[in-house]
Amino acid sequence: MTATLMDGKAFAADLRANVARQVSALKTETGVTPGLAVVLVGEDPASQVYVRNKGRQTVDCGMASFEHALPETTSQDDLLALIDTLNADDQVHGILVQLPLPAHINADLVINAIAPDKDVDGFHVSNVGLLATGQKAMVPCTPLGCLMMLRAQHGSLSGLNAVVVGRSNIVGKPMAQLLLRDSCTVTIAHSRSRNIEALCRNADILIAAVGRPEMVTGDWIKPGATVIDVGINRIETPDGKARLVGDVAFDSAAQVAGAITPVPGGVGPMTIACLLANTLTACCRSLGQPEPDGLTA
Ligand code: GUN
Repeated sequence: MTATLMDGKAFAADLRANVARQVSALKTETGVTPGLAVVLVGEDPASQVYVRNKGRQTVDCGMASFEHALPETTSQDDLLALIDTLNADDQVHGILVQLPLPAHINADLVINAIAPDKDVDGFHVSNVGLLATGQKAMVPCTPLGCLMMLRAQHGSLSGLNAVVVGRSNIVGKPMAQLLLRDSCTVTIAHSRSRNIEALCRNADILIAAVGRPEMVTGDWIKPGATVIDVGINRIETPDGKARLVGDVAFDSAAQVAGAITPVPGGVGPMTIACLLANTLTACCRSLGQPEPDGLTA
């Protein structure tokens, strides 16, 4: 392996420590404890694990965690009523509704019912529009985490060719907006792109966010490029064991890339750390306090 390993676990630990320091200072100065409400509908085991981790890390940072676990059969109206209550609750500065939601609930409607200032996921159409027009937004957590790691690796990103593979609302599109805002030349590639390998080989920064196990191989990568792997895929190995892999074939990519994130231990831990950062940011904005240091895009 020749690439530098970008250690998201260590980076996220530093970020959480930064959040905890600033939460403590905010409490001393204002007496206000930032609060995050997480809403989970149904019993999806992976979502339950995420929600538990979010709650634990929120409390570890000195913030208040409000968890609302609702049954799978919850009606859309009952969920919207809960969001209204959370929107009006001044102990709650951030609201996250865990996705995916059950099929009988319209996720767009629910997301857009969250007060934009409390939308710590950055999924509300107002925040999407604010980000796209370069205004102060709540920024989606996974792309924010990727951006922080890229800035730490490169300093300025200005003028670099960035290719984002994947066009989801959660990662691909906001990632492209953030890179554009940092003056990259941005290409979004996706399942219908022609000659996707050649597009990727032109990238100084390559972000893989498609959910296809080990799709990006070493021969897709420009020598020396920085590769950020957002994928988390569970695959079965020939001996029948489960293994987590990214969207990048790590061993071949690491022979060519200049820097690369592993899976697990790369971008994954940054997502929750950025959620905590966004909750503190939302709280500071609601109080008219200065923006927290080093936590925003
Ligand atoms: N499910 C998977 N990733 C996310 C995320 O970033 N936010 C929410 N709300 N749900 C998710």
